[in-house]
Amino acid sequence: MKFKYEVVKLASISKISGPVVVAKNIRGAKMYDVVRVGKEKLIGEVIQLKGDKATIQVYEDTTGLRPGEPVYPTGKPLSIQLGPGLLNNMFDGIARPLEYIANESGDFIRRGIEVPTLDMKKKWDFKPTVKKGEKVKAGQIVGKVKETGVIEHKILAPYGVEGKVAEVNDGKMKVGDTAIILESNKRKIGIKLYQEWPVRSARPYLEKMFPNIPLITGQRILDTFFPVAKGGTAAIPGPFGSGKTITQHQLAKWSDADIIVYIGCGERGNEMTEVLEEFPRLKDPKTGKPLMERTSLIANTSNMPVAAREASVYTGITIAEYYRDQGYDVALMADSTSRWAEAMREISSRLEEMPGEEGYPAYLASKLAAFYERAGRVKALSEKEGSVSVIGAVSPPGGDFSEPVTQNTLRITKVFWALDSSLAYRRHFPAINWLTSYSLYETYLIDYFKKVASEFPELKRRAMEILQKEAELREIVQLVGPDALPEDEKLILETAKAIREDYLQQNAFHDVDSYCGLDKQYQMLKTILHFHEEAGKALKRGIKVNKIARMPVMERIARMKYDANLVKNAENIRKEIDKQLSKLSEVV
Ligand SMILES: Nc1ncnc2c1ncn2[C@@H]1O[C@H](COP(=O)(O)OP(=O)(O)O)[C@@H](O)[C@H]1O
Ligand SMILES: [Mg+2]
Repeated sequence: MKFKYEVVKLASISKISGPVVVAKNIRGAKMYDVVRVGKEKLIGEVIQLKGDKATIQVYEDTTGLRPGEPVYPTGKPLSIQLGPGLLNNMFDGIARPLEYIANESGDFIRRGIEVPTLDMKKKWDFKPTVKKGEKVKAGQIVGKVKETGVIEHKILAPYGVEGKVAEVNDGKMKVGDTAIILESNKRKIGIKLYQEWPVRSARPYLEKMFPNIPLITGQRILDTFFPVAKGGTAAIPGPFGSGKTITQHQLAKWSDADIIVYIGCGERGNEMTEVLEEFPRLKDPKTGKPLMERTSLIANTSNMPVAAREASVYTGITIAEYYRDQGYDVALMADSTSRWAEAMREISSRLEEMPGEEGYPAYLASKLAAFYERAGRVKALSEKEGSVSVIGAVSPPGGDFSEPVTQNTLRITKVFWALDSSLAYRRHFPAINWLTSYSLYETYLIDYFKKVASEFPELKRRAMEILQKEAELREIVQLVGPDALPEDEKLILETAKAIREDYLQQNAFHDVDSYCGLDKQYQMLKTILHFHEEAGKALKRGIKVNKIARMPVMERIARMKYDANLVKNAENIRKEIDKQLSKLSEVV
């Protein structure tokens, strides 16, 4: 008898190029499997497979790594733990808690450190919501824990797990303890307070729902003119200093989402440090408690490796989907997706792939699309309704919107908030260009806005028409001067100025003005358009626009935004407009 011997060669590093490592003799590994690289067991992910050769992107600094060092496959895709403790917490791109990392390894992240996402020692008070003998389906809520002062965390039966409840535990327990035991075909399955999920796969749901509820942001230009739906997608491109971060922060603070997932893809090191310092200090205006109690923050400071940045958006959206599945409305902000795209570009160039436009990989568009497609308002497996709205900032170099990241993003997202450096320069904030921005949700949301006030959509339409007319008139004014215009066109300029300065401009740092509810938006717009209509009638009686513009009530219109009781006071202002206009008539 003859024996055949096969010498099993161990997987080892054959080539290193920055964050990308090639390993040979790798067997049984699948695409996107996690591998541990080198003696220090750095965390990496297979991104290309050719026979027994794997290309791996490493989430940690690869300095000092040498060819020949071992590579250990784990057989598992990049997954994170989902459970209580995600909120009021900050993570790196692969969901390692920043605080824990800092405590364990000092200021710098020690390489190869394996840190669970969740605190495995902390005890939570688990309250079951199912009884012995009850049937449980995958994704169903089986209990809850009070995660923070404001959020109740629903514990879900993991995907693929179902059966009859055989045992119910309650009270204080760690996330790794078994809370519920199900029995299915004589097999027992334990449900813990956490589950794992591979971040690159979207979490399943029962059905997608129509985007017919707005995500109310309290920002006038967004809600009134370019609304985003709950479960919708929006892009906010703009050059440096135009207001991307402030807008994202305003949305985090004020939008009517239950949960905020904020992905900080470090623009510059210090900007990320600002987020890390500022977020824990932000107060939730609705509860008075720290905003972090309903926020999960993912941060990539510039000293973190580029591959971890690539992973961070998947980590973020997976966390967002998990809270959606509990029945929450989640708003995810990514600031800035351009840094994510640059990470893709860097890794792609290390792979020596054929570059696409401006060196970005050919799959840039499909990666962006796959990310934004994970947004949506859904009926979850738990039968609850929840949503993930995604708002991505884009920072085109030099503010040039024709570059590939902006263009590919705009092809996917349904809302475009165009930040404009000339508006920012004139200190018109939010510096969102009302002529080039758009929302494709308008038609879905019209019924909702009609419920606020039946004439609201019509007011919106008329106000936008005045702004567009103004833009046309400006060109004429530049040629012939304002005096050459007929009185009714001068009035358009006057009303447009009121819409721009008294309505669209909104100061994020003013106590009252920072947030403007829909009823207030409606009353403000109604008042400005009431002025326009009544002033138009006065023109017909021979009154000149320059007289109308000097009426004292104009000052009250300008101060509407600072009035916390405007909804009550608006009718008075409109009466005052009528009174002062009729006074002008008497003088004639
Ligand atoms: N809504 C706003 N209200 C008041 N100031 C604003 C507003 N938006 C932007 N700004 C001003 O613009 C500056 C730059 O905004 P920022 O969001 O940091 O820009 P970006 O992230 O696009 O580089 C802010 O520091 C602030 O002074
Ligand atoms: Mg910024």
